[in-house]
Amino acid sequence: MSDLRRRAWKAQRDANSNTVAKVAPELVEGGPHAEYVHMSFDGASNIERSLEIAAERAGDLTADIYARLFRDFPETEHLFVMDRDGGVRGNMLSHAFNTILDFIGERRYAHNFISSEIVTHIGYEVPPDAFASFFTVMRDELRAACGPQWSPEMEDAWRRLLIDLERYVARPTHVA
Ligand code: HEM
Repeated sequence: MSDLRRRAWKAQRDANSNTVAKVAPELVEGGPHAEYVHMSFDGASNIERSLEIAAERAGDLTADIYARLFRDFPETEHLFVMDRDGGVRGNMLSHAFNTILDFIGERRYAHNFISSEIVTHIGYEVPPDAFASFFTVMRDELRAACGPQWSPEMEDAWRRLLIDLERYVARPTHVA
C-alpha cells in the first residue's frame, strides 16, 4: 500500500472513532470495559502489513469477502437480500476493518462496538457464535489476496487475533 493509501486508511479509522467519541463519549472513555482499552496486541504490524499487501495486490476485497462468506456460510446469504446496492455490505466490512485496526491499536472503541453489534446482530438472526466467523472469513480472503507474500508471522498474528476476538465475542464483559 502506498503511504498515501495507508494514511487514508488510518484517517478513515480515526474519523470513525472521532465520530463515535462525539456521538457517544461513554463508548470511548470510562465505559464498562475501560480497563480493556489500554491493552495492546502484539503482532499489530503484521496484521497491518497483511492489509497493505492485500490492498496493493487485489484492491477492494468487498466482493471477494462476501463471496467467501456466502460460500462458507450459505445460510447468511439470504440475510442480505434487501441490500440491493451493496451499501450495507460495504458499510459492515468497513466497520469490521475499523474494529480490527482499533482492536490491535488504541482500543478506543472496538470492545464496546463489538458488544453492541453482537446484540444488534441477534436481531438480524446472526447468533453470537456466528458473528466472529466474519473475522475468520476476512482473514482467509486476505491470506488468499496476499498470495506468496503472506508470511508465517502474519499467519501467527492473525491466528492470535482471531482467538482474542472470538474469546471477546464469547464473553464480551470479560476482560481477557
Ligand atoms: C458472519 C457474521 C455476520 C453476519 C452474517 C452479519 C450480517 C449482517 C446483516 C444481515 C446486516 C444487515 C442488517 C439489515 O440492515 O437488515 C448487517 C449489518 C451490519 N453489520 Fe453485520 N454480520 C456479521 C458480522 C459482523 C461483524 C463482525 C461486524 C463488525 C465488527 C458487523 C457489523 C455490521 C454493521 C456495522 C452493520 C450495519 C451496516 C449498515 O446498516 O450500514 N457485522 N450484518
